[in-house]
Amino acid sequence: MKKILLIDDESSLVRTLDLYFRGKGYNVFSAFDAREGLRLWRKNEPDIVLLDVQLPGMDGTQALATAKDENLPGDVIMITAFQDMEATLAAIQRGATDYLYKPLDLDSLDVLLEKILVRRREREKIERLSHVVSDSFKPNQIIGKSQATLEVLKDIARVAGSPVTVLIQGETGTGKELVARTIHQQWAPDEPFVAINCAAIVSNLLESELFGHERGAFTGAIQRKPGKLEIAGSGTLFLDEVGELPLETQAKFLRVLQEKQFQRVGALKDIAFKARLLVATNRDLESMVEAGGFREDLYFRLKVFVIRIPPLRERIEDIVPLAENFISRINRELDRNVKRIPMEYVRVLTAYDWPGNVRELENMIRRAMILSKAEVLEIDQCWFERREPAADKACGSQENQLRSLSDMEKEHISKILRHTGGNYGEACKILGITRPTLRKKINDYGLEADHRE
Ligand SMILES: Nc1ncnc2c1ncn2[C@@H]1O[C@H](COP(=O)(O)OP(=O)(O)OP(=O)(O)O)[C@@H](O)[C@H]1O
Ligand SMILES: [Mg+2]
Repeated sequence: MKKILLIDDESSLVRTLDLYFRGKGYNVFSAFDAREGLRLWRKNEPDIVLLDVQLPGMDGTQALATAKDENLPGDVIMITAFQDMEATLAAIQRGATDYLYKPLDLDSLDVLLEKILVRRREREKIERLSHVVSDSFKPNQIIGKSQATLEVLKDIARVAGSPVTVLIQGETGTGKELVARTIHQQWAPDEPFVAINCAAIVSNLLESELFGHERGAFTGAIQRKPGKLEIAGSGTLFLDEVGELPLETQAKFLRVLQEKQFQRVGALKDIAFKARLLVATNRDLESMVEAGGFREDLYFRLKVFVIRIPPLRERIEDIVPLAENFISRINRELDRNVKRIPMEYVRVLTAYDWPGNVRELENMIRRAMILSKAEVLEIDQCWFERREPAADKACGSQENQLRSLSDMEKEHISKILRHTGGNYGEACKILGITRPTLRKKINDYGLEADHRE
């Protein structure tokens, strides 16, 4: 049975609507003020809420804001008078589904409800379908359920519809390019997405890569060649590692942004620059500006809208959903059927600090799945890029091959403790020793400061 919540201080109206909706088979809840309304809203999870804009005490738009903050369910129809139009539009922006004028006309209300319920059924159908596919890998999709990732998704939604320049900041492997592609996908999916990595191209070729060149413009320019700016057309130009752009090229690029046109190297003709610009960097451009390594005027042009992607260690809620997603992708690629990430593996994954971020996680899972044929990810196939400094030294060095047994033992215990996230019980199991023995060794080797029990 559909549930409807009425929040209006006009008691005669509420009574009429109550009778009307009961007659239509709805389960009806009603309140005369926002406080009581919110209480019923939380408790009953209505499908539809009719919410008066003018209420005593907390008004309807405030009640809506509270409900949206708390993620309360239901389509909200604002009930409004002509003079409250501004508040009503603000309510629509905050997520109300629609509005109706007072005095209420039951026929328009019926039409609106029917429309909402049809839309709702479609939405549910899509949700069911997307749940089924979420079992398998979706390419180019941003995965994660941390608040930080949700904020990034919201930022993307905010900028995708207009051609503003976006500066995407984040450590290596955090998903900057993925964010850029997602914005492009929503902005102009049928136009080209052209990426250029400013760090990967030697500086004397960079300008020709960006702007293109005419035949004979410089030694080796045998043919005319269009640059990335030209190829991007009306699509997206993604300047990756923009902090690596040499100062001289920065000046030229700034001019392109100001004049919206450019010339191929060795040409006089102007070409219009129509593409949307997205840039990414893992450097702190602001301090580069202070140090004189990046032009301030260009920086101001680029930072119109900034999306910061936090490192993976600051959003550990994303680790398991990402890991699951990579497993299902790699299952397909390698025709495997890995099903589970065991709990102890989850603990190790979330205790690690991921200097290589999401890319490192993906690589690690791929390696683990190649090394083991088991259907469950195995802990001893865990391989981290940031190995202990001692372990690094051990690689190939003569001196280290002659280390004492106790040094090796100390290093090994420290490594296992790190893998278990400091859990002594787990560590004892892996090491095959008792807890008192472990404690004694930790004492002897002076390890306790690094690990907690
Ligand atoms: N939230 C995410 N959901 C799914 N996959 C992700 C996510 N973030 C990153 N990835 C994956 O991790 C890998 C690295 O991401 P990407 O290349 O976008 O990072 P980056 O920040 O551009 O790295 P770099 O600074 O090294 O260029 C890619 O395979 C990408 O698909
Ligand atoms: Mg990148």
